[in-house]
Amino acid sequence: MLLSLVVGIATAPLLTWAAVSSQTYNWANVKIGGGGGFVPNIVFNPSQKGLAYARTDIGGVYKLNSDDSWTPLLDFVDNARWNYWGVDALATDPVDPDRLYLATGMYTNSWDPNDGQILISTDQGATFTPSPLPFKVGGNMPGRGMGERLAVDPNMNSILFFGARSGNGLWKSTNFGASWSKVSSFTNTGTYVPDPTDTTGYNSDKIGISFVTFDSTSGKSGSATPRIFVGVANLGSTNVFVSNDAGSTWSAVAGQNSTYIPHKGVLSPAEKTLYVSYSNGAGPYDGTLGAVQRYNITSGVWTDITPVSGSDLYFGFGGLAVDVQNPGTVMVAALNSWWPDGQIFRSTDGGATWSALWAWGSYPQIFKYYTYSDSKAPWLGPDTDVFDLGTLQIGWMMEGLSIDPFDSNHWLYGTGATIYGGHDLLTWDTTHNVTLESLADGIEETSVQNLISPPTGPPLLSALGDIEGFVHNSLTTAPAAEYSNPAWATAADIDFAGNKPTNIVRIGTGDSSTGKQVALSSDSGNSWSQDYGAADNVTGGKVALSADADTVLWRTNGNGVLVSQYTNPFTAVPTLPSDAEIASDKLNNSIFYGASGSKFYISVDGGHTFTSPSSLGASTAPFKVIVNPGVTGDVWVSSDVGIFHTTNSGQSFTQLAGPTEAWGIALGAPAKTGGYPALFAAASFGTQTGYFRSDDEGVSWVQINDAAHGFGSLSSNCISGDPRIYGRVYIGTNGRGIFYGDASGSAPPTTITSTASSSSKTSSASSTSSTKTTSSSSSSVKTNSTSSSSTVKSSSSTVSSTSTGSAPGATQSAYGQCGGTGFTGPTICASGSTCTVSNPYYSQCIPS
Ligand SMILES: *[C@@H]1O[C@H](CO)[C@@H](O)[C@H](O)[C@H]1NC(C)=O
Ligand SMILES: *[C@@H]1O[C@H](CO)[C@@H](O)[C@H](O)[C@H]1NC(C)=O
Ligand SMILES: *[C@@H]1O[C@H](CO)[C@@H](O)[C@H](O)[C@H]1NC(C)=O
Ligand SMILES: *[C@@H]1O[C@H](CO)[C@@H](O)[C@H](O)[C@H]1NC(C)=O
Ligand SMILES: *[C@@H]1O[C@H](CO)[C@@H](O)[C@H](O)[C@H]1NC(C)=O
Ligand SMILES: *[C@@H]1O[C@H](CO)[C@@H](O)[C@H](O)[C@H]1NC(C)=O
Repeated sequence: MLLSLVVGIATAPLLTWAAVSSQTYNWANVKIGGGGGFVPNIVFNPSQKGLAYARTDIGGVYKLNSDDSWTPLLDFVDNARWNYWGVDALATDPVDPDRLYLATGMYTNSWDPNDGQILISTDQGATFTPSPLPFKVGGNMPGRGMGERLAVDPNMNSILFFGARSGNGLWKSTNFGASWSKVSSFTNTGTYVPDPTDTTGYNSDKIGISFVTFDSTSGKSGSATPRIFVGVANLGSTNVFVSNDAGSTWSAVAGQNSTYIPHKGVLSPAEKTLYVSYSNGAGPYDGTLGAVQRYNITSGVWTDITPVSGSDLYFGFGGLAVDVQNPGTVMVAALNSWWPDGQIFRSTDGGATWSALWAWGSYPQIFKYYTYSDSKAPWLGPDTDVFDLGTLQIGWMMEGLSIDPFDSNHWLYGTGATIYGGHDLLTWDTTHNVTLESLADGIEETSVQNLISPPTGPPLLSALGDIEGFVHNSLTTAPAAEYSNPAWATAADIDFAGNKPTNIVRIGTGDSSTGKQVALSSDSGNSWSQDYGAADNVTGGKVALSADADTVLWRTNGNGVLVSQYTNPFTAVPTLPSDAEIASDKLNNSIFYGASGSKFYISVDGGHTFTSPSSLGASTAPFKVIVNPGVTGDVWVSSDVGIFHTTNSGQSFTQLAGPTEAWGIALGAPAKTGGYPALFAAASFGTQTGYFRSDDEGVSWVQINDAAHGFGSLSSNCISGDPRIYGRVYIGTNGRGIFYGDASGSAPPTTITSTASSSSKTSSASSTSSTKTTSSSSSSVKTNSTSSSSTVKSSSSTVSSTSTGSAPGATQSAYGQCGGTGFTGPTICASGSTCTVSNPYYSQCIPS
């Protein structure tokens, strides 16, 4: 009874499989090498030399190695625990450096139904134990670069405080994070929301508490630290609080200036001073004004030490660092100086005077007090990319800035795209010329939209969120350049032609540029041309290229299904539903396939008309349609009830007996030459969920992922089989880049126990909570000359939908900012000037 049931139309399987055996796979990232997404903070342990962690918003946490590379710590995260990859805060224990705490959870709105948790490690992140919280944590929410909101008492490390979002207040643990209780005496839980009108809840939820900072000097080892500072996301009302009795009672710090929202509160122990950076937004995209203040704890005096003023101040402040070995040395990053570049300031006298990382010469000359090196990720640097983010090289979204407490020359900062830093920081104070290096080696944070592995040419081509994607000629070397000419921040999909596999089609999402969003290549993605058949501003969705490469079928995002042959104007395909999954036959140029709802569709006239010969059983949501590259009409469809197979162009389907729900599916090289391609599936077999391979057309399976490789949300991921190497599969994740896996040793005999059941299709254990809601996307940018590319993480549509918060009728003066992602100021220019888009993040009033 191991065979699937073959019937005229698909029927629910009558079996559940109790267990599918597994095969050991070797998994590694396909190297991109430069991060590829927002790094909200980098935290050094103050007690153990060289120990540091970087947290990301959608891709977990990394630990620093002595050779500047990073090791991921949350690769065990699987579908059921997908929200662990959203890391909103991190604390490394100053007393016992083996202890590490992460506050995890992805969203506080409906996109993430799960509450958050503190992940506790006692072995520097090798293993974690979750401690559940009774509220949500928002690792990919606005304000995620603030903090840290989570802190370990430096005198009594069993005590931790965590500042929650959403008005949930301040929480305390006295048992190393094992359990938490609310600090009821802390009542000012934060009122600021970026956009109260946002009905998704993403920008209308309270940011809450921004930081918790212990004053280590106020206590002594072995007893609870008396003085604790807490920053709260309030704009224009009291927002820095202090306790002098270890958190029993709280009061506002006297004399504070609460004009802006405090982002970071960093203690300089030798100076007994708290430094605070402020912005008028929650970040990470916004912020047009801000301040830096220092608070002398001894005297109780606040001093404004904002590095710039007047028209030079057009950003907030985020990243803030002190050099604990050189009291008085402090650095602060402009959170977002979109033009002409990001900016970082350094002072060696406690903020009395500052120097900057660059300065204007006589316009447009810029003195760069740094030497730029992107050798670890050459694609970050100048290439032929399209988005004109002008001169941006230093970065943006700079909320994480740290100086190594054991090495004053070593510093790191996170941007929207990567980690930069260097090992000669002290030259800032002598020759004033530091080496700025790309230091994100090992961090793979991309959101993968799709992957193809054609039978000839490069082994892999990717379509990525925010940084377009790459031709991966090597899986182990960082690529030199992204796709270009045309390029769009996010590539939505990519496909190759079966008979002419060096011919590739790629589509964009319109997130960073308007205009045509279809590109064609005939040389495996090395060079591209615009498909002039595409209409301006039609974007996104899925794309399929016909077998002979002359016809593009395009299921757009919001403009229905379109088709074009020979780059003629795209025309509507009303016979295929606008939410259909699509695929091209890999041999017959006239044939395309589709699936929507419970129906399968086929076109035999080059995609002009589709008919539906059959249904897909009880499916309501097909996920993926794939085609045997060697046999026309041999098609597989995954759906919410399993996997379906036809060998007669959809006249009839077989539903496989094992899978009860399936997402990504792919075909790869056969086990035996000339045999049927290996079938890969991200699927559930009843309660067993993961990644599987079948060498016999879906009759028997082995699980190929393991407890150390979970790949996060199943429904966000894509998979592709390698047609040249048996066993090899590529998995594209939402936030942890691309993995490739190779079989190690032989597959064990399949051990399948079957249990008669008539209700097998009702229980899919995997439905826990994966949502595709949000590939956190970023956007990549490039200039044609000296500057670098970089990535901006934007929660795609959610962020771009932010509406303006400025008063109706307010106008911006000439040369002022009038738009851009997250910008909430006036969008109308004073008369005589026109609001002109410089880049997705910055529009400026240019005098006409
Ligand atoms: C508070 O800060 C704002 C912004 O930096 C500044 O304009 C204002 O003068 C300050 N208020 C006081 C009382 O210093
Ligand atoms: C803080 O204030 C005290 C008392 O006025 C003073 O002695 C000390 O030098 C100040 N600290 C710094 C770092 O300026
Ligand atoms: C810093 O050094 C680099 C490399 O030598 C040089 O190109 C750059 O002009 C220097 N910056 C300044 C402001 O002198
Ligand atoms: C495309 O969108 C841009 C920006 O909204 C707009 O200016 C332009 O007119 C649009 N083009 C077409 C053909 O609709
Ligand atoms: C491709 O399929 C169409 C429709 O079934 C058929 O008419 C045609 O002969 C096929 N072409 C080839 C080359 O097999
Ligand atoms: C980019 O190239 C254009 C066209 O050659 C040129 O006008 C522009 O100055 C270049 N931009 C930079 C930043 O060099």
